[in-house]
Amino acid sequence: MDTINLIEKLEQTHILEKEEYSYLITSCKKEETEILFQKARDMQKKYYKNEVYSRGLIEFTDYCKNNCFYCGIRSGNTKAERYRLSCEEILSCAEEGYRLGFRTFVLQGGEDSFYSTEDIGSLVSEIKKRYPDCAVTLSVGEQEREVYEYWYGCGADRYLLRHETATKEHYEKLHPPALSFEHRIQCLYWLKEIGYQVGAGFMVGSPYQTAECLADDLLFLKKLMPHMVGIGPFIAQKDSPFASFPNGTLEETLLMLALVRLTLPHVLLPATTALGTIHPDGRELGILAGANVVMPNLSPAEVRKKYQLYDNKICTGEESAQCLDSLSKRVSSIGYQLVSKRGDCAGF
Ligand code: 5AD
Repeated sequence: MDTINLIEKLEQTHILEKEEYSYLITSCKKEETEILFQKARDMQKKYYKNEVYSRGLIEFTDYCKNNCFYCGIRSGNTKAERYRLSCEEILSCAEEGYRLGFRTFVLQGGEDSFYSTEDIGSLVSEIKKRYPDCAVTLSVGEQEREVYEYWYGCGADRYLLRHETATKEHYEKLHPPALSFEHRIQCLYWLKEIGYQVGAGFMVGSPYQTAECLADDLLFLKKLMPHMVGIGPFIAQKDSPFASFPNGTLEETLLMLALVRLTLPHVLLPATTALGTIHPDGRELGILAGANVVMPNLSPAEVRKKYQLYDNKICTGEESAQCLDSLSKRVSSIGYQLVSKRGDCAGF
C-alpha cells in the first residue's frame, strides 16, 4: 500500500477500508503526515473558513457513580476531592461566559444522581431563557432514553458522550463489568434519533488500544455520523489502575484528528484540553491538523483543579475562559480567528 495514494483516496472519498486506515495509522512518516495535515486544513477551511469556535465548559460535579479504569473521578478513587456546584453557581458561570462572548455552554459532569432529571432540565431551560442566542450542550453520561427526551424538550441542543472505543473487547478492558458497550452505543443512537447534535469520541493511546481499534473507531464514526468528535490523548492518572501505562502521544493524536477531519469533512472537532496538557502548543497544533473548536474552562477557579480526569490537567489560567484574549491571540498567530458564535455543524 502507498501512503500518499491512501491519503488522496481518503481526501476524495472520505472513507477507507479498515486495513487501509490501520496501515495509515502505523506507517505514516513525518513528511506524509505534513501532507495529511495540509489536506485536513484545506477541508476544514472549505466548510469553516478560518473560524475557530469556542465553548464555555462548566464542569459542575466530579462525583461519578462509574468506575472507569482510566478516569481520575471514578467512584473508586478515594483521593479525588469531590465538589458540586449549585444551580446558582452554574448560572453565574453562564452569565460570566455570556459576558466574555461565549455562545455555547457545555454542562459537563460525572454521572451524579444528586442532580435530578428535573434539576438538570430546569438549568437548561433557564439558560436558554436568559440567553436565547446560545446553544446548551449536556455531557452527563449514559441515561435512559426518556431522560434524554426530557432534556431535549427543555431546550438542550447538543449532547457529548464519547464512545471511548468502538471495539467491544477493548471497551471491556477499559471499564468494569457494570458498564456495557452496547448500552453506550445505544445511547448515542438514541441521542441522534431524538434530534440532538451529537458528539462522540475516544482517547488516543489508551491501554490495550491497537491500530485496528483506531481503524474501527473511524469506521464507527462514519456509520454514526456525529456532529462532533472529541479526541484527546490518554493521560495516566496516578491513583487509577492505569497509573503506570504510557500516555498517548501528540503525534498520534494529531494524526487521528486529521483522519477524522477527512473522514467526516463537516465535523466539529475540538482541540482538547488533554492535547493542551501533553504539549504547550497542543491545541494550536490540533487546529493545524484539522480541529476547529476550543473549550476553555468556565468553572470557578477553586474547583478547576479538582476536576482531574487525568494528571497535570492544565488549569492555571491560559486554558480558562477568563484568558480568552490570550487564547484568541494564540489562535490568530497561526492564521485562524476565534469567533463569538454558536458554532453549529456546517453539514446538517
Ligand atoms: N486521559 C485522557 N482522557 C480521559 N478521559 C477520562 N479519563 C481520561 C484520561 N485518563 C476522557 C474520557 C471521557 C472524557 C470526559 O474525558 O474520554 O469521555
